[in-house]
Amino acid sequence: MNRPAPVDIAHHAHLSGMFAPQRDEVDVRDLEVEGHLPDLEGSYLRNGPNPRFDPIGQYVYPIDGDGMVHRVALSGGTARYTNRFVRTPQVVAEEKAGRALWAGITDPYFPPADEVGSDLANTMRELPDINVVRHGGRLLALAEAAPPYALGSELETLGRETFGGALPVGLTAHPKIDPHTGEMVAFCYMLDAPFLTWSVFGPDGAVVRAATPIDGADRPLMVHDMALTETYIVLILAPMVFDLEKIFTGASPLDWQPELGVRIALVPRDGGAVRWFSTDTFWMWHTANAFDLPGGDVAVDYVEWRYPGALTEHDGPNPSLLRRAVIGRDGVTRTTLHDRDIEFPRIDERLWTDRHRVVATLGRSGSQRLPSGSADALFWFDVDSGADTVWSGGTLSPGEPVYLTSTSGAGYWGSIATDFTDLTSWFLVFSADDPGAGPCARVRLPIRVPAGLHGTWVPSG
Ligand SMILES: [Fe+2]
Repeated sequence: MNRPAPVDIAHHAHLSGMFAPQRDEVDVRDLEVEGHLPDLEGSYLRNGPNPRFDPIGQYVYPIDGDGMVHRVALSGGTARYTNRFVRTPQVVAEEKAGRALWAGITDPYFPPADEVGSDLANTMRELPDINVVRHGGRLLALAEAAPPYALGSELETLGRETFGGALPVGLTAHPKIDPHTGEMVAFCYMLDAPFLTWSVFGPDGAVVRAATPIDGADRPLMVHDMALTETYIVLILAPMVFDLEKIFTGASPLDWQPELGVRIALVPRDGGAVRWFSTDTFWMWHTANAFDLPGGDVAVDYVEWRYPGALTEHDGPNPSLLRRAVIGRDGVTRTTLHDRDIEFPRIDERLWTDRHRVVATLGRSGSQRLPSGSADALFWFDVDSGADTVWSGGTLSPGEPVYLTSTSGAGYWGSIATDFTDLTSWFLVFSADDPGAGPCARVRLPIRVPAGLHGTWVPSG
């Protein structure tokens, strides 16, 4: 196949306006703060798709794009912002060439050896652009189902992380850290048997369980997130099937096959036999949390879609609701916790594997027309009382809310938001006690931060 034509970025919804790639890399201290920064000592980090050069071929949001990690470091009431590209070998080669060499991952085009050298010829673009996690002394920029990239203290790229060869295929972008044991638990899907594996990292980052096949996984499925209880890894397998033959016909390799239904795997963390369950078809990107129930059942809170919106040709209403599935003796029982359209559910992650009450999410106020994939509100749902709290951003479009812990033990929520009208970006801090009151502090960021994906809070020390 010939080299694909450039994408018309000016007319691409996810490459223009708030989504336009940011090419500047800066490091600016003593940022202007409106309001009062509480006693937060640490760094908020966020990853997201940010193509290094204007793309060629297809650009499919949110699965294409290079990674850029943004950091807002808070200390003594001051704020510093730093951002860096995640420099994969493909990004480094493109920087040398001064232009995009790889196409989108749904394009059947691989740059030839005379353009990129024999080592990189016929490789896919690596995409560690989804999430950023700190565990066991490593700071990792994470891809969907591939090796992550380790970052240094100044966000410089240290290189591809295979954990001493124990995870050559990589891991999910959404591993979970057990706050009780300090372990990080991950899964990874792959296109060939065994299709799904799981792995465990000790609190020091050492691999204590190398990639272990999940018995009963029977086909290559796209699985974006997982949940963790004290006893189980919870994997919700929606019928988004990889069909690699399709890529050579110019079609997406992802094939939505709703007739297959959803399978759920409870994988015992002690290595016991996998328990499999079935339920009606839905699509899920993200979980909020899961926990064990008395009697051996499991509850998992997650965002349920009817079908995987942007990745299919499917048409029709597609609400994204916070739901709870109870899995166990009575099979799978799904109920709606809140009926607002939301995504990016997060909790205070010190409660991962335990019962939680508050789930924070991105959402839409309903009062204005918004660009595809953007939000203008944050919601906090109390899943016990049913109460919800709303903050409408007006012209500010927030990103995923992340729980921040302060040195005094008080809780806050942090989010990067960009103003639709002037494309200025802000780091917003909300008190977890009264988030509906709006931000208690707004940090003016020195450059526009493109709308992105997932982040994390790393306390200092
Ligand atoms: Fe995600």
